[in-house]
Amino acid sequence: MEMLEGIATRRSIRGFKPTPIPRETLDKLFHLASRSASYKNTQPWEVAVVTGKKRDELSKILYDLASSKTPQNHDEPAPGLYPDAHEERSRIHNKNRFAAIGLGRDDAQAREQARLLNFQFFGAPCAVFIFMDKTLTHWSTFDVGLFVETLALTAHAMGLGTCQQASVTGYPDAIRKCLGITDDKKLVISLSLGYPDFDAPLNAYHSTREPNEKFVTYYD
Ligand SMILES: Cc1cc2nc3c(=O)[nH]c(=O)nc-3n(C[C@H](O)[C@H](O)[C@H](O)COP(=O)(O)O)c2cc1C
Repeated sequence: MEMLEGIATRRSIRGFKPTPIPRETLDKLFHLASRSASYKNTQPWEVAVVTGKKRDELSKILYDLASSKTPQNHDEPAPGLYPDAHEERSRIHNKNRFAAIGLGRDDAQAREQARLLNFQFFGAPCAVFIFMDKTLTHWSTFDVGLFVETLALTAHAMGLGTCQQASVTGYPDAIRKCLGITDDKKLVISLSLGYPDFDAPLNAYHSTREPNEKFVTYYD
């Protein structure tokens, strides 16, 4: 896939085929993602790749927590209210993604079912958790963000799909416990990873972007 086409066509995937991803494919993907830039080449990302029985075990734990409305406790506290313009984009995103599967504002139960799909990794055979050392700062979170975008674009170029999921990172203690990861590691983000199922209803949704005039200022 040509690079600019890949950047233009990458999108979050929220429905996957159960087809397992070969180990060599995963190795290639993470090797390429590690070409990301990082401050002073510190490469702060620590990646847990969860498949097979462990994936099913962890999904059940997370689904039980989420469906019983257990309060979330992100390692990095969730943001509060955004500035008005950002809140408006978020509102439109929510409206459009539910409209794409035929749900309106009042379909609270169906919306909750759709939310819970996060904790089943949208059917993906692979869940990826990105940790970094707890002593690190926002500078390293920035580096992890670059790594995750490179990962998402590389996966797309390889015929795979990803969905980044802050929702899943709301239960970091359960994830660390299940994977045997010590609590000196901060969970930054998780991703579902697999072969996209383009017939899945949630994949009908395509997000939009603001035009350049809204966010670019040229100074001559
Ligand atoms: C940090 C972060 C957290 C996200 N968390 C979730 C999530 O929990 N569930 C979900 O369905 N999508 C999640 N997304 C995906 C965003 O909704 C998506 O990137 C955005 O709407 C733009 O759409 P696109 O990725 O298809 O271009 C997250 C994205 C980012 C960058």
